[in-house]
Amino acid sequence: METVGIIGAGIMGSGIAQTVAGKGMDVMLTDVSLENAEKGKAGIAKSLARLVAKEKMTQADADALLARITPAGDYAGLSDCDLIIEAATEREDIKAKIFEAAGKVLKQGAIMASNTSSIPITRMAAQSPDPTRFCGLHFFNPVPVMGLVEVIPGLATSQDTIDRMKAFGEALGKTVVLAGDAPGFVVNRILCPMLNEAIFVLGEGLASVEDIDAGMRLGANHPMGPLTLADFVGLDTLYEIMKVFLATTGDPKYRPAPLLQKYVEAGWYGRKTGKGFYDYSGETPVPSR
Ligand code: 3HC
Repeated sequence: METVGIIGAGIMGSGIAQTVAGKGMDVMLTDVSLENAEKGKAGIAKSLARLVAKEKMTQADADALLARITPAGDYAGLSDCDLIIEAATEREDIKAKIFEAAGKVLKQGAIMASNTSSIPITRMAAQSPDPTRFCGLHFFNPVPVMGLVEVIPGLATSQDTIDRMKAFGEALGKTVVLAGDAPGFVVNRILCPMLNEAIFVLGEGLASVEDIDAGMRLGANHPMGPLTLADFVGLDTLYEIMKVFLATTGDPKYRPAPLLQKYVEAGWYGRKTGKGFYDYSGETPVPSR
């Protein structure tokens, strides 16, 4: 891959852009407006500044990486891309519109991939111009740090597309896991119900926010407690994922915890809004209630 287009300049899209540009590829970072795309690039600049301050990266390398990222408010520039990665909001109606619009500029032979957390790849491939060149490519937050990428072929995805996506993931320095096209693939299938369960535990009053997190950090050696991680992933995203699991399988074990729904309805989405299970307005996060 020489040029990679990314649709969505939020946490995941920006993280993917930073990682791809860090490996010397050019990135076209798009969002619904140029302003949003530029905000995504500014976030990357901030993250690189931290690495420079910690002497993990030189200023020259940070400048060169940033120079490889071009923000854009429309899809015209995506026609030069060998790969387009959709990393937009986890809602199928939004993604379907993106595949239709971006499909119009998809270069001959180029691949369209989705960083969806949960939505079936085969179903989304049907909205794209060529399902043989459509694939799931699932990254983990924070993308520059996490070592895994899931490659998820849909029913029609060609072996050539699978091979190219595996090679791309490896070129980013990630371990690639090939996952089947079922809700949540491998990691989220296991992880998200665990996060949802932690919210049930909180809702049932079995333990405090801090004790639930301490329990899983110290009792299961997880780097973050599940409520901290849910805030990190985004409670809106987690809620959408659980709804997709439930709708796709019909299995009530996947119903979103009522307290998760309540937090989302309050607009408490976690770190990105400054409040979720924790309040992030101070120096260190404190339970929000
Ligand atoms: N770019 C490059 N490097 C970065 C970075 C960035 N944006 N952010 C952090 N780093 C580096 C730091 O420089 C540091 O490097 P060092 O170890 O060499 O010093 C390292 O990453 C760790 O960062 P910190 O010291 O700031 O923080 P922690 O040691 O507390 O680790 C964490 C932070 C890596 C986020 C850790 O807490 C963790 O692994 N948490 C779990 C994350 C997780 O489970 N993610 C998956 C979520 S699910 C998902 O994304 C799927 C989606 O579909 C829902």
